[in-house]
Amino acid sequence: MNTHGSRSGFAASTSTRAPSSLDSALLTPELLTERLYLRQWRDEDAEPLATIYAEPTFLEHMPPLDLEGTKAQIERFRRQWTDEGFSHWAVEDRASGRLIGRIGLMRHRDWTLGGAPVEVGWSLDPEFWGRGLAGEGGRASVEVWRERLPGEPQLISITSPANGRSRRVMEKLGLTLRGETNWHGHDVVWYAVDR
Ligand SMILES: CC(C)(COP(=O)(O)OP(=O)(O)OC[C@H]1O[C@@H](n2cnc3c(N)ncnc32)[C@H](O)[C@@H]1OP(=O)(O)O)[C@@H](O)C(=O)NCCC(=O)NCCS
Repeated sequence: MNTHGSRSGFAASTSTRAPSSLDSALLTPELLTERLYLRQWRDEDAEPLATIYAEPTFLEHMPPLDLEGTKAQIERFRRQWTDEGFSHWAVEDRASGRLIGRIGLMRHRDWTLGGAPVEVGWSLDPEFWGRGLAGEGGRASVEVWRERLPGEPQLISITSPANGRSRRVMEKLGLTLRGETNWHGHDVVWYAVDR
């Protein structure tokens, strides 16, 4: 993996607490980008993440998730890290050290169109929207797919048709619209990039 290239958005690490670790059983347990620290989940992440999930702006395109649901979601992320070697990272804003959301890769064994594709996804605190941070973390995720999952021919991303912000992030990362479908009872659009 290129840890210094501008294309990936990775910055050379000067931090002592968060070196990029590429040799673990986990695919890439943590990463530094220019402005983000993508790391493993901690128990204390549940409350700030649930607070983000309760923001009215956040809920425009996302279903509500209370604290218990958020704790269960974090447990699912941890299980996926163990079982698949990857999942969403907890996202910290490097400047403030605040948890500001989640970004990463996730395998969907129940994808409505079959197979078990890997999806890139993101959810951030509305206070941090519009600064290119989803693009920055998403770009790092795409690099991990490209370089650490060579057997995966396609990377997809899924959102609701009205979620223009998320669709724009997909386009910025080079994914193109592949279709519309219904998944878990919701109409969705899906994008993809091929190797
Ligand atoms: C989707 C989300 C992660 C984007 O985060 P972000 O950090 O603001 O994203 P970026 O700043 O990297 O990019 C956003 C892009 O959307 C554009 N944009 C903003 N509002 C838009 C709109 N209503 N329609 C289309 N594009 C829009 C921005 O201009 C920017 O593009 P640009 O860089 O070309 O100017 C954030 O809005 C979020 O957390 N939403 C709630 C959770 C969610 O919907 N997750 C995706 C579920 S599939």
